[in-house]
Formats: sequence, structure tokens, C-alpha cells
Amino acid sequence: MTQPKHLLSIEDLGLDGIREIMRLSDSFADLANRPIPKVPALRGKVVANVFYENSTRTRLSFESAIKRLSADVMTFVVANSSVNKGESLKDTANTLLELGADALIVRHSSAGVPMQIASWVDVPVINAGDGCHEHPTQALLDCYSISKLHKKLRRKSKNSAISFNGLVVGIVGDILHSRVARSLVTALNLLGAEVVLAAPRTMLPPAFESWDVVVSNDFDSLLGKLDIVYLLRIQSERMKVVSIPSLREYTTWYGLSMKRVKMLQKDALIMHPGPMNQGVEITPEVAQLPNCIVGEQVANGVITRMAVLFRLLVP
Ligand code: CP
Repeated sequence: MTQPKHLLSIEDLGLDGIREIMRLSDSFADLANRPIPKVPALRGKVVANVFYENSTRTRLSFESAIKRLSADVMTFVVANSSVNKGESLKDTANTLLELGADALIVRHSSAGVPMQIASWVDVPVINAGDGCHEHPTQALLDCYSISKLHKKLRRKSKNSAISFNGLVVGIVGDILHSRVARSLVTALNLLGAEVVLAAPRTMLPPAFESWDVVVSNDFDSLLGKLDIVYLLRIQSERMKVVSIPSLREYTTWYGLSMKRVKMLQKDALIMHPGPMNQGVEITPEVAQLPNCIVGEQVANGVITRMAVLFRLLVP
């Protein structure tokens, strides 16, 4: 396989690329248990975290992944940068290269910005979430978490190529504004899972009709069929018009309560990309359940992002 230049979308990665990231993630999984959880793979390299939008999980897990691979991290935070003095995106990217960056990890509120930067620079660019478009590393860590934690998949042989055939995943909520949903649907389809979207009609993007998914606005009738319930936050920061009558009504129809959890299969996993709005899409009691694997998703973010950096930066 030729070495890829960037990670901009899940479609670019393809099924072979997803499987390769999962294999690499496995090879980094034991590292966290060592007294010094580091490998020298990227010694001498500098990776820039270029975040034009808020982040806790993605920025810090990339930072941790960079350090565990023994590279140096350069952190750009727009709030205290020269963007506020009028510096353009291109000038900022070039400045980071002049300062020695060997790769750029880019988050931006506008779709397409990581692709635009990738067209200007000659170092790898990783999309850390662009507007409502894609969040490929979130989809990778989610698929890795499913492959490790769902009982149906855990029983499979270590050497068999990972496949989600027979798995039914319900993605619930604000699909319209969700870059996580777009990347995750593509990754799940490639891995062979059946994907069901449960959302009010006003929270579905026009493009969903061309996606390989089943759509329902009756969450309760789906619960017994799902192996995974993947909840989304209502992304009010991206809403141009209000898509639901009220949060209370949304919670009534789509919030995951203990009553709904009792309707799930015994082995079903509950997932969320974070940050969670407890009391809206998930109750605090459900967020504490052992089959709610939000914490494991965050932890797997570090090894998955190590795998992404390794694949792009190690010849
Ligand atoms: N899931 C996710 O992207 O979280 P952050 O916005 O905290 O990075």
C-alpha cells in the first residue's frame, strides 16, 4: 500500500485504510500500561495542533498521542493568535511550517478548511473536525471501540479481518449538523454494519436519501433491534434555524432514559462522541451504566490517533 499523504475524510481512507488503523491501534494498545508509555517512532518530528474551534477530547488526545510517539507538539489556539490581527488561514499555515511543523491537525467551524490547507502545504494534514462535514478520527476511535467492546465482535478470532456484518447501529439525534454522523455512517457502511438513523425529520440532512441507511422517527420501536445506540448532542452552535419545538420535547421522544435502556438488547452498547448534554440526549443514570462506553471511547482516542499519526509520518 502506498503511503497516504493526508487524512481528510473516511471515504479517502477506505476499508483497507480503516482496517490498517485498527491493526496499528492494537499494536499501541498495551503501551498505556507500561511505566513509561512512549515509543520513539516520531522522535525529532513536530506536529501542530491547529484548532480554530473549541475542543477538549480531540485536541488533548492528539496532544497525548504526539507525546507518546516522542514527537514535539506545537499548539495553536485561535483565541490568542494573530488571526485576531487579521492574519489569513494561508499565512497561518505557512507560519507553522516555517516554525518546523511536520504535520498539521486542523479543526475549523467551516467545512472544507482542512482540504484547502492540504492543497497549500506539503506536509500531512489531518482533519480534526470541519463544520458539519467530517470528523474522521472520531469515527475511527468509535469503530475501534465497537470492535473491542461489543460481545458479538470480541468473540471473533484475533487474526480475522475486522467486519461489522450482522451488527445494527442506531445513530440518534441531530444528524443534520453532525460531522461525527457523516464520518461514522461511511465507516460503518464500509465495515458492513446496518445503520439506522433515528431523528426528527428536521434534524436529517437532505443528502441522507442517498446514504445506505434506514431512517425512522420512532426511536422506541427500534430499541430492541439495536446492538449499538450512538447518541448525538444537539449542536445549537451550528443551527441557523431552530429544528425542534423544545429541548423537553426532544428528550421525550429521543432522550435515552432508563425506561428506554430496559427495551435494549442485553449486550447493547451506548455510545456518545462527547461532550454529552446530560438531561437532554442521555440521563445522568444512563451515562453511568457499565454498558455506556463513553470513557472507553475517549481512552481509545489516544491509541487511534497514534495509529493515524504513525501511518502518515513513518515512511
Ligand atoms: N468528540 C469531540 O470531537 O469532542 P471535542 O469537541 O471535545 O474534541
